[in-house]
Amino acid sequence: MNIDKILNEMTLEEKASLCSGEGFWHTKAVERLDIQRIMVSDGPHGLRKVNEEKDCVTDESIKAVCFPTASALACSFDRGLLEKLGKTLGDECQAEDVAVLLGPGANIKRSPLCGRNFEYFSEDPYLSSELATAYIKGVQSRGVGTSLKHFALNNQEHRRMSVSAEVDERTLREIYLASFEGAVKNAKPWAVMCSYNRVNGVYASENPKLLTDILRDEWGYNGLTVSDWGAVDNRVNGVMAGLDLEMPSSMGKNDKLIVEAVRLGKLDIKDVDKCVRRVLELLEKYEDGKKSNVVWDKEKDNKLAAKIESECMVLLKNEDNILPIDKSKKIAFIGKFAESPRYQGGGSSHINSYKVTSALDAVKDICEVSYAEGYLTNEDKIDKSILNKAVKIAEDCDIAVLFVGLPDMFESEGYDREHLRLPGCQLELIKRVAEVNENTVIVLHNGSAVEMPFADDVKGILEAYLGGQAVGQAEVDILFGKKNPCGKLAETFPKKLSDNPSYLNFPGEGDRVRYQEGIFVGYRYYDKKEIEPLFPFGYGLSYTDFEYKYIEVSKDEMNDDEELTVTVAVKNTGKVKGKEIVQLYVNDEQSGVIRSIKELKGFEKVSLNPGEEKKIAFVLDKRSFAYYNTEISDWYTEYGKYNILVGASSRDIKLKASVYVAPTNKVRVEYTLNSTCGDIMSTETGKELFREFLKEVNVGFDRDSGLMGEGSEQTAMEMFNELPLRAMVSFCDNKSLTREKLSQLVKRLNIILNSDLY
Ligand code: BGC
Repeated sequence: MNIDKILNEMTLEEKASLCSGEGFWHTKAVERLDIQRIMVSDGPHGLRKVNEEKDCVTDESIKAVCFPTASALACSFDRGLLEKLGKTLGDECQAEDVAVLLGPGANIKRSPLCGRNFEYFSEDPYLSSELATAYIKGVQSRGVGTSLKHFALNNQEHRRMSVSAEVDERTLREIYLASFEGAVKNAKPWAVMCSYNRVNGVYASENPKLLTDILRDEWGYNGLTVSDWGAVDNRVNGVMAGLDLEMPSSMGKNDKLIVEAVRLGKLDIKDVDKCVRRVLELLEKYEDGKKSNVVWDKEKDNKLAAKIESECMVLLKNEDNILPIDKSKKIAFIGKFAESPRYQGGGSSHINSYKVTSALDAVKDICEVSYAEGYLTNEDKIDKSILNKAVKIAEDCDIAVLFVGLPDMFESEGYDREHLRLPGCQLELIKRVAEVNENTVIVLHNGSAVEMPFADDVKGILEAYLGGQAVGQAEVDILFGKKNPCGKLAETFPKKLSDNPSYLNFPGEGDRVRYQEGIFVGYRYYDKKEIEPLFPFGYGLSYTDFEYKYIEVSKDEMNDDEELTVTVAVKNTGKVKGKEIVQLYVNDEQSGVIRSIKELKGFEKVSLNPGEEKKIAFVLDKRSFAYYNTEISDWYTEYGKYNILVGASSRDIKLKASVYVAPTNKVRVEYTLNSTCGDIMSTETGKELFREFLKEVNVGFDRDSGLMGEGSEQTAMEMFNELPLRAMVSFCDNKSLTREKLSQLVKRLNIILNSDLY
């Protein structure tokens, strides 16, 4: 495709027409110039290709394979697995002539209440961005694009199309944008989808800071930006801000506004050209990578869906090694979700599964179990007859496995949850069953954290999340020990909703939600506040045991552009083969900057046979230690000693090492008369100049000076440290100490301290 030539030949109207889609799922064709249209489809955990003829937004999509949702996938902590999934989805797209798969979603789980958390990976930006990277690389390796979404701060469904997420710059960078940044830089998604909401007052669809300054200028992105469906407010502003494609079609209305704005000189044609060029580049990429004759083997993909889910489920409790289940025992499966599991969420990601395997289906290959429905799913009402029947069955068996979770109405795209409870009818069932059977195991189906008032009353808890259409197979494989659980939580499960950091500010007031908790999202908050969670970030059990043997760092001091290799050894000390997710966190307790106690900066999943030991190497760079310094608008590391913590969860640190890290670059010092004496004396140069100055103006650094006040030496020193320079004039009974002289001191100090910056 000769894009320059096409751009030259296009009329303004044709250019404007390419800035929006045709119908819901296609870009526009321009027949005169032989520009074909392409199709895009949701995503992210399967192909929701809507019937091409109808081209509507409803659920009429083709039969497909539903894989585990992102909230489950994230628990695998497995880049390879996500890449494999991506490749499979890419092949499915090729088979169906879909050019771009709309996903993955890299929004941070700010609150467990967000109705769409099942589509997002984590509360941690590093984990989220690493997994998004792997997924994108997988899909795109097949010649199909992805659309990383929703950029940015779409962390709630409540008023999602109008709310303004109000966030400070450091939090924006360290938490919410960092979740996208790695994926944009390392995987280069073909498209980035802007979010519906506003960010600090400006719609994401017309936000130059997000769409151009950060995405393109800072991160070097050169792919397409596309609106979320219906996210455009002012299309002309959008073009100026860097939003290339509007979806779905505006029926030509916004295209006309673009033409008009160019004619009136309000919009530069160069900005329109940029949008058109990126649309054409995307078409070209798909054309170049188009494969014919790709066959979609649904059965094969269904098997992969089961395998993936078995790598994601998290074993939360296993008292007395109740799991794996001994199949010679008398077993009951109780709960509607054993028969028809909840395995995906509602909304745009909803897959029309070609088949579903429940635990009741899958267990038939293993042994006989008795079954009772136990509760209703269409309403939260206790039906005494089905409840009592279930309790009776539980009483008569050796092990009762309860399949529970959130029904569709409790959690979906489009609205947020109001609480973290399971339905009352399920809680009653769990209570009654646990009373009559001490060997009760819970299997959970939910898209996000739930409260578990029953945690102490049952012996086993297995978190399946929304595990895709083959969830039942994976559950049975884990419950009976064919597979060893190896997932760990990608989000904190709080004991109660009010423990969550966003609790006081979710979902905000009117059209404004303030992210007051700042950088303290998820485990960063629970750690700092010393709040014991129900289950911490990174937690999950196995049927085997692991020993963390040693830790080594490749150097004691790290300078600019250097990397640090951290090597640890882990051994399987149990009796069965298993996989351990080894997590590396960085801790900075010396810089004086407000920071989290730990930040995840590395993870590896390692497979070990019984008795086997393996070494794992993590590579860290300067960014791993940095925080976002708003004074210099850049990432910055203070000089000092940083701790490296390696462990089995955020609350189970097994090994510790440390390294000295040199500062990235110097921050400009800007003292004023309001700087305190302590500030001035915080550097050796400052101390020296200040002492000279005091001598010059004849102010003794002693009690007679008036500076030290009453009280102990210690108190006096503290008071002095807190004193602004300007106040010395009032506190010192000394005529030669003037405001002018202090100003000169400040000026001199600023010049000397910043001299090496010029
Ligand atoms: C969702 C997107 C989705 C799009 C197309 C929107 O409502 O927010 O995630 O890709 O619809 O279905």
